[in-house]
Amino acid sequence: MSTTTVRTGPDGPTDAAQRPIQEEVVVLDFGGQYSQLIARRVRECGVFSELLPHHVGLDEIRRRRPKGVILSGGPASVYEEGAPALDREVLELGVPVLGICYGMQLIALELGGRVEGAEVGEFGRSELAVSQPGRLLTGTPPQQSCWMSHRDTVFAPPPGFTALASSTASPVAAFESTERAIYGIQFHPEVVHTPYGQQVLANFLEGVCGCERTWSPSSVIEEQIASIRAQVGDGRAICGLSGGVDSSVAALLVHRAIGDRLTCVFVDHGLMRKNESDQVVSTFRDNFQIPLIAIDASERFLARLQGVTDPEQKRKAIGAEFIRVFEEEAAKLDDVHFLVQGTLYSDVIESGGSTGAATIKSHHNVGGLPEDLDFELVEPLRSLFKDEVRAVGEELGLPQRLVWRQPFPGPGLAIRIVGGEATRERLETLREADAILQDEIRKAGLYRDLWQSFCVLPDIRTVGVQGDVRTYGNVIVIRAVTSDDAMTADWARLPYDLLEQIAARMIGEIRPVGRVVLDITSKPPGTIEWE
Ligand code: XMP
Repeated sequence: MSTTTVRTGPDGPTDAAQRPIQEEVVVLDFGGQYSQLIARRVRECGVFSELLPHHVGLDEIRRRRPKGVILSGGPASVYEEGAPALDREVLELGVPVLGICYGMQLIALELGGRVEGAEVGEFGRSELAVSQPGRLLTGTPPQQSCWMSHRDTVFAPPPGFTALASSTASPVAAFESTERAIYGIQFHPEVVHTPYGQQVLANFLEGVCGCERTWSPSSVIEEQIASIRAQVGDGRAICGLSGGVDSSVAALLVHRAIGDRLTCVFVDHGLMRKNESDQVVSTFRDNFQIPLIAIDASERFLARLQGVTDPEQKRKAIGAEFIRVFEEEAAKLDDVHFLVQGTLYSDVIESGGSTGAATIKSHHNVGGLPEDLDFELVEPLRSLFKDEVRAVGEELGLPQRLVWRQPFPGPGLAIRIVGGEATRERLETLREADAILQDEIRKAGLYRDLWQSFCVLPDIRTVGVQGDVRTYGNVIVIRAVTSDDAMTADWARLPYDLLEQIAARMIGEIRPVGRVVLDITSKPPGTIEWE
């Protein structure tokens, strides 16, 4: 394989001309922590939505011929120097505009309302008093809870606008001008703590913008198949399977489009969870009959990991080895010009340069491929959020176990052996502990409620006593978190009885385990993984 830069294929969700999506609402991102969620909620109303940076420019917005524009919240004060500004012309595009939080304040400021920094901000749950529902709040009760997160506040709506609601700290918590089709709300309709939030969004989308509920994740299947066929023509493609839902769904879509001209490659690095490698092979080769090259490279990886204890070094070693094995296999195939990747919409947004996101760990692409392979990328999931990918996976007949699999890091169990070397024995102990945890969590019906649940094996030993005998065994840490997107996470309050059962099984069934502990750190301040 020669080395040139990867050429990207059709730029997915950003290319309106390629998409037969009839209706779209654009969300302009002013840096709010819930901006992605707004786009997701709009899609849940059956309307396709994209999140674009606030500075994307009018041409990009117009190109999508949106039925409406939503201005997101953001952390800045409208009066701050360098605060993201609103291009006035967005309000004059001829389509309805809804400003949320900072977005509402921008509208107020631009059109002559009064926005002021309040002494006391409003953060968290708040009570909304609706004086008149107007179009935006129609069908919602006069008193309702909502979620607020702001310091600046609108004290007077712009001339010609009607104030619809207030809260303790927000004299004008919602306003509208039906004549100009401009609307604003101080509260966040996209978060679950605003019980009528979805209704307010639906009022805007259907009542104001006139959108119809025509979009669903599965509606992209036919469209994607057509687009993959157009891109690949009669060429051949290769897809690296990781065992996760994203690469699996991407592979299934491409296989539907081009059949056996797709070859999947599964590199088993020996760092997977129990039975996972067999499941990948049986699902793809036996069940879907997709050409699959499965390579057991565990010996190579173990050799490469010998003596490596530093987390970054581990990731680098695994990443480099993975690429080497993948390249070796790819080189054996003739005429393959296309590489299928399960890039998601959240990856697209993030690489689009959301402002201000600090890099905590820079290695989340380990297990990914370098940018100098001579392939054209095929990325059929570029327009989808994770939950939408799952819906597509179900539609395509992917087994439930794979569809709902919790995220798993590319470097696998190796980065869960903390502070020490990932040896065969330790991997075995960790794998068995993990299998017990998953088994008990599934039996308790909690698997899907958790973002991730896994075990960590720190490189320490502790004293114990079993059957009158002193033991000196390994410690297993249970880590279980709830999360929406892994950016933040809360430690999961697993029932005590369940924890007891898990600990008893681990110590009883896995000889080297002498103690089991629970990690009760949320993110922040912790990260989800220990390394
Ligand atoms: P942290 O530990 O940063 O993890 O809170 C956030 C999410 O990313 C996953 N993760 C990784 N995924 N390669 C991956 O493919 C990695 O090196 C890696 N490190 C963390 C982690 O499991 C969680 O879902």
